[in-house]
Amino acid sequence: MTAASPADDNSVRLTPTSPVAVIEIDNPPVNATSQAVRAGLLAAIHEVERNPQIEAVVIACAGRTFVAGADIREFGQPPREPHLPDVIDAIEACSKPVIAAVHGTALGGGCEIALACHARIADPGASFGLPEVKLGLVPGAGGTQRLPRLIGLEAALDLVSSGRMVKAAEALRLGLIDRLSSGDLRQDTMELARELIGKQIRRTGEQPVAAMDGQNASARIAEIRRKARGAEAPGRAAELVLLAAELPLKQGMARERETFLALRSSEQSAALRHAFFAEREVTRLPGFDAVEPRSVQKVGIVGAGTMGSGIAIAFADAGFDVKVVETSEQALAAGRARIADTYEKQVASGRLTAAARDERSRLIDYGVGLDTLSDRDLVVEAVFEDLEVKRALFRDLDAIPKPGTILATNTSYLDISLIADATSRPADVVGLHFFSPANVMKLLEIVRTDATADDVVATGLALAKRLRKIPVVCRVCDGFVGNRILSRYRQQAEYLLEEGALPHEVDAALEAFGFPMGPFAVSDMAGLDIAWARRKRLAANRDPNERYVDIADRLCEAGRFGRKTGAGWYRYEAGKREIDPAVTALVEEASQRRGLTRRKISTEEIQARIRAAIVNEACKILDERIVERPLDVDVVMMHGYGYPAWRGGPLFEADRIGLQPILAQVKERAERDGPGWEVAESLAGRAASNAKFYP
Ligand code: 3HC
Repeated sequence: MTAASPADDNSVRLTPTSPVAVIEIDNPPVNATSQAVRAGLLAAIHEVERNPQIEAVVIACAGRTFVAGADIREFGQPPREPHLPDVIDAIEACSKPVIAAVHGTALGGGCEIALACHARIADPGASFGLPEVKLGLVPGAGGTQRLPRLIGLEAALDLVSSGRMVKAAEALRLGLIDRLSSGDLRQDTMELARELIGKQIRRTGEQPVAAMDGQNASARIAEIRRKARGAEAPGRAAELVLLAAELPLKQGMARERETFLALRSSEQSAALRHAFFAEREVTRLPGFDAVEPRSVQKVGIVGAGTMGSGIAIAFADAGFDVKVVETSEQALAAGRARIADTYEKQVASGRLTAAARDERSRLIDYGVGLDTLSDRDLVVEAVFEDLEVKRALFRDLDAIPKPGTILATNTSYLDISLIADATSRPADVVGLHFFSPANVMKLLEIVRTDATADDVVATGLALAKRLRKIPVVCRVCDGFVGNRILSRYRQQAEYLLEEGALPHEVDAALEAFGFPMGPFAVSDMAGLDIAWARRKRLAANRDPNERYVDIADRLCEAGRFGRKTGAGWYRYEAGKREIDPAVTALVEEASQRRGLTRRKISTEEIQARIRAAIVNEACKILDERIVERPLDVDVVMMHGYGYPAWRGGPLFEADRIGLQPILAQVKERAERDGPGWEVAESLAGRAASNAKFYP
């Protein structure tokens, strides 16, 4: 018989075999616990209780994964019965052993189903996690109360507050699961189920939890809140975990549910849900569904500096055949050493096994000169950021790889059309703008010129998927999406210095906003010299009426290039960032030269001005159709520049705040700061008509 949901959509099937029955959840794509699944599961458990032939039951899933959580699409709607905690309670209360057979990912509500089963067995490739905090939530179906009962408070605090996934082997070590399948998961599960028939049932909710000492607990919560940088859910989730040692299951779950429901309707959760879907939406470019990508397996990287090495590692990590080229043996040796060093560090920190390092290193070959790239399907250029250098390189490159090879540049600002024009095949030229460190950062800007072929853009998207990066397709402009916006808000940050703020005050205000680091600390990390060289190159073309702050130039003239020289916007002693009176003096001098009386600038003003700078420039980018959708900008800012995901990106947030106050701020900037700060048409238009970025 089949016990299905009232809607009878067959998303849960019970096969009442004796003595071990099987409940199979089949709700593609990820078996989320939609209302039909919850109803089906509950009906199936009731049937198991009723049927005397059934002595144990297995919960398993069809398709590529175990249940990956509650259905996020239902979160905007009022909760509908049966609620997941009730379904899960029924599973735990079942008088016959219930065994979870896990493959793929058991996440959120899926992990909570597994936790409430009486035993858990997993495929070695399976993973477990409670990622609710990443959606601005706490687990809502017993996760905070049952997980510590299986793995203890310390480990549960880590998993619940970070939302991190653990692989099956670690889950076994922690005590989250009971057994790893050695081959056939279904068969091994049936065996385990038969072993459990007639034995005492071990209910997770009845297990004791050892308490943590009060001081240690408060310190952990404080640490979790600090790391969350303004996100509310991690701290709330951690507090609930600690309750598991104080309250009986039922009461703990009531507290958990209350928090879950409150956070579900919070602004932060709405923003994080937007971020979740936006990350997926960027991979689908309107009109590109039917475009077939080119096949890429052999990749060439030109230039083995920091960027080139990082890009080479990113491709090798994804299993591509990589060839790195340089102009001399010496430069090549330095690149090889850089790559080896990165892998060494990953092994030392336990992130990579020695075997995986060897395997990945073997995928990278090295050569001197472009001639060695003739068999490549894709070549990525990562040489010095200078238009003439890059044009010359592309002119040479043009003669080498076979027709159809994609020629990509990793430029962060330059006009890719001019680079493409240096070749006889501009349709094959595209920008693949990686962010540093390229093997770590998720964002990939795919920059197309008017000449770039559609299948080259589609290949960029397909590559991003294989590299596990988040792609945003954009058109050519100075700095593309991210660096163009960054330049603008860095400029505003420098105006704030001239008017009265100090670098550490601007940084602190933006860190309080939720950025991992303020712009001056970032600049010290990245090094001031590269931007200085660029400014010098562009100086001749600068609008003489533009308000230009020269503090950074003066720092560079004094040899202060940031951390690497021990001083920049700050000074560094034993690696520690310290306020430098010499910089304060330079900033004060700059105010004087401009004839400005310095004043105290509040955190709120700093945040509002930076936000206005970001939103206005983002609107100009939309107006010029550099990207098609507001969500493209949001994704770039969240994944490349540390814009707090719990704010949903600048344009999502602008809708929430309302465009009027942002527009008022932008108008003031336009009036005071002159050229470059004109109000974007779409910002003014939207504000006037009360339209939103996300209707
Ligand atoms: N609800 C609704 N849709 C979901 C979903 C969910 N929980 N998880 C994934 N999807 C959708 C995606 O939007 C995507 O749809 P699309 O094809 O229309 O874009 C599709 O499923 C496939 O997802 P991915 O493209 O992300 O596929 P991957 O294979 O790369 O990743 C995954 C699979 C690891 C399961 C990833 O989708 C994921 O992390 N999902 C979210 C998991 C999660 O956060 N679960 C917790 C939910 S909250 C909860 O459970 C509350 C509970 O405590 C009560």
